Amino acid sequence: MGSYWSFRLMVMVALLTVSITFKSANSDPQITLLNEGCNTKYRADNITNFGINFNKSLADLRNQISGGNTHFATAQEVWTSDPVFVLFQCRDYLSIADCVSCFDTASSQIQECYPHNGARFLYDGCYLRQEASFFFDQATNSGNGQICGNQTASQPTDFQTQAEALLQDLKLATPQMEGFFAASKRQLGNGSDAVYAVAQCTETVSKSGCEFCLKQVYDYIDVCLPNTDGRGFDAGCFMRYSATPFFADNQTTNIIPYLRAKGGNSNKRKTIILGAVVGVGLLLVILAFLLWHQLYRKTKKIEKSNIFGTTEIRGPVTYNYKVLKSATRNFSEENKLGEGGFSEVYKATMRNGKVVAVKKLNINFGKAKADFGSEVRLISNVHHRNLVRLLGYANKGAELLLVYEYMANGSLDRFLYGEKRGHLDWKKRFDIIFGIAKGLAYLHEQFHVCIIHRDIKSSNILLDDDFQPKIADFGLAKLLPEDRTHLSTGFAGTLGYVAPEYAVHGHLSEKVDTYGFGIVILEIISGRRSNNTAVAPLSVSLLDQAWKLYESKTHLQLVDKTLDPKDYDAAEVKRVIDIALICTQSQPSERPTMSEVVIMLSSDHSIEECRRSNSNISSDTKLYIEETH
Ligand SMILES: *[C@@H]1O[C@H](CO)[C@@H](O)[C@H](O)[C@H]1NC(C)=O
Ligand SMILES: *[C@@H]1O[C@H](CO)[C@@H](O)[C@H](O)[C@H]1NC(C)=O
Ligand SMILES: *[C@@H]1O[C@H](CO)[C@@H](O)[C@H](O)[C@H]1NC(C)=O
Ligand SMILES: *[C@@H]1O[C@H](CO)[C@@H](O)[C@H](O)[C@H]1NC(C)=O
Ligand SMILES: *[C@@H]1O[C@H](CO)[C@@H](O)[C@H](O)[C@H]1NC(C)=O
Repeated sequence: MGSYWSFRLMVMVALLTVSITFKSANSDPQITLLNEGCNTKYRADNITNFGINFNKSLADLRNQISGGNTHFATAQEVWTSDPVFVLFQCRDYLSIADCVSCFDTASSQIQECYPHNGARFLYDGCYLRQEASFFFDQATNSGNGQICGNQTASQPTDFQTQAEALLQDLKLATPQMEGFFAASKRQLGNGSDAVYAVAQCTETVSKSGCEFCLKQVYDYIDVCLPNTDGRGFDAGCFMRYSATPFFADNQTTNIIPYLRAKGGNSNKRKTIILGAVVGVGLLLVILAFLLWHQLYRKTKKIEKSNIFGTTEIRGPVTYNYKVLKSATRNFSEENKLGEGGFSEVYKATMRNGKVVAVKKLNINFGKAKADFGSEVRLISNVHHRNLVRLLGYANKGAELLLVYEYMANGSLDRFLYGEKRGHLDWKKRFDIIFGIAKGLAYLHEQFHVCIIHRDIKSSNILLDDDFQPKIADFGLAKLLPEDRTHLSTGFAGTLGYVAPEYAVHGHLSEKVDTYGFGIVILEIISGRRSNNTAVAPLSVSLLDQAWKLYESKTHLQLVDKTLDPKDYDAAEVKRVIDIALICTQSQPSERPTMSEVVIMLSSDHSIEECRRSNSNISSDTKLYIEETH
């Protein structure tokens, strides 16, 4: 309570100061409402929780905007049922005072949607959106369009030509600019009139998402010409032009350097690489990390609406149990894709023709059931190209069904030592290793809670049509019965993959996944199943064999005989084997974090360099899902 009031007071003092300072400077928060929408399809389940989450996250946004001198903020409250994600953006040309006042208008109008969990309000000056699941990276969505003024420009042809040229330039420049915002003006032919325009993307979309969104929005807004005013908008971006100035002259940005910057970009990358080669220690690693990050952003796909055509809500969809039952033909044997200790997976063809995978959990849920809803919500918010998407769920009595995207190529083990053996060349194998590493790094460090998989193995890696790996079954360990999670009766991992400290003592950390990942690398390279000496005491385990070969410097004997030696670079294979061995050190502290692994895989410098300098990077504020739930 105390801190809430002192926060209120602080804001009031701040506002007072600001309003005195800005009163004379024609403050205008530009609160003309352009577009609004409540997600009427999705009502909050538990209105109390929703109300609390909603108010908390809005207060958080306001705090960030008014206190941080920033025009953009996101916030989320996800620890109870009915999680809330909010995003707020002001046009950069607004003063912070105007931005806060636009926010206040938006946050009071958004209450209209209560208790629908999902809303958006778009103004000339700002944009507020709330959803029940993560959407911050979303570039496009339904509900996009344009709003055109009704006056024709006095010199229509000239105005249209200049406005189009300006908007085209903004479309090119904005994705390359820091903060994804640009404002500019262009003089008309006879010199007295001008056209003013801005473009802006939300800061949490990728560069390619920003490009894609502005391309769409350019097409929307172009329809308005030659009228004097137009606005175009989509989930991740906004454009506006006008014959009358709507931002101060000193707020224009210089976009010219960005218009022919395509070559400049790759030059920069060259210097970065050059610097990394000659550079030393920490600097080198940080640069490599930046480079990786940039590449990662580049390749990130633009979010599309999911395969069911639902767009606004991307939270967990509740399916009808009967529908899923009939879509799997009564869970028939021929629809079965696989089974594990606690579950069976079936292929299901929905009425609209879409194919999904349905996982049927055979657990006698007691206490676990209460966690189910929040767990599913959490998992369904995980979006990464190397992680299998959870689309929704259904339950009936004690039975729980999870609905996942379907992966036509099935699991990795089939391609290593199963019926599809010999189909993967070295490049595909390397890409698979890299993809798994990125997926795990996301789960451990980039998602807002650290999710430890606990059961990384080749049969849990699925392959999509392009042989991109997608990790399956993450976040489920929590749903397993308590007594199954430690060795006393069995543990969540699988023999041959499980880290010794977890198998023996039940010590769980993300390094358990690093270990499993190391074993998977060895399987990918050797095309052999990792057998455990505890199960087959007379045979040498894959890991032991790898160590022996490493010690005698005959790494390459490990490589799958179905691989053509001309097809791979021996030095690269050796490097990857080294990485596998460092991931499977018996001391957890000696194993790298998954983001360190990503750096090692994406760069040429030695593992030792990485290890030495990376102790500084790994974050010390980790939330463990076990502790926080
Ligand atoms: C809403 O959730 C809270 C806390 O999780 C719980 O105490 C309350 O009973 C729930 N209310 C309803 C109507 O389910
Ligand atoms: C949230 O804020 C609104 C507006 O300030 C208020 O009417 C409502 O009672 C608040 N809800 C909760 C649960 O605190
Ligand atoms: C143009 O729009 C304004 C409001 O934006 C409205 O008052 C006016 O009547 C409209 N004029 C025409 C000709 O439609
Ligand atoms: C420019 O064109 C507009 C519209 O035709 C006209 O009103 C204005 O006087 C012109 N200005 C000059 C400097 O020629
Ligand atoms: C921009 O110009 C306005 C007057 O139009 C002035 O009040 C403001 O301080 C200027 N801002 C900057 C950053 O120069």
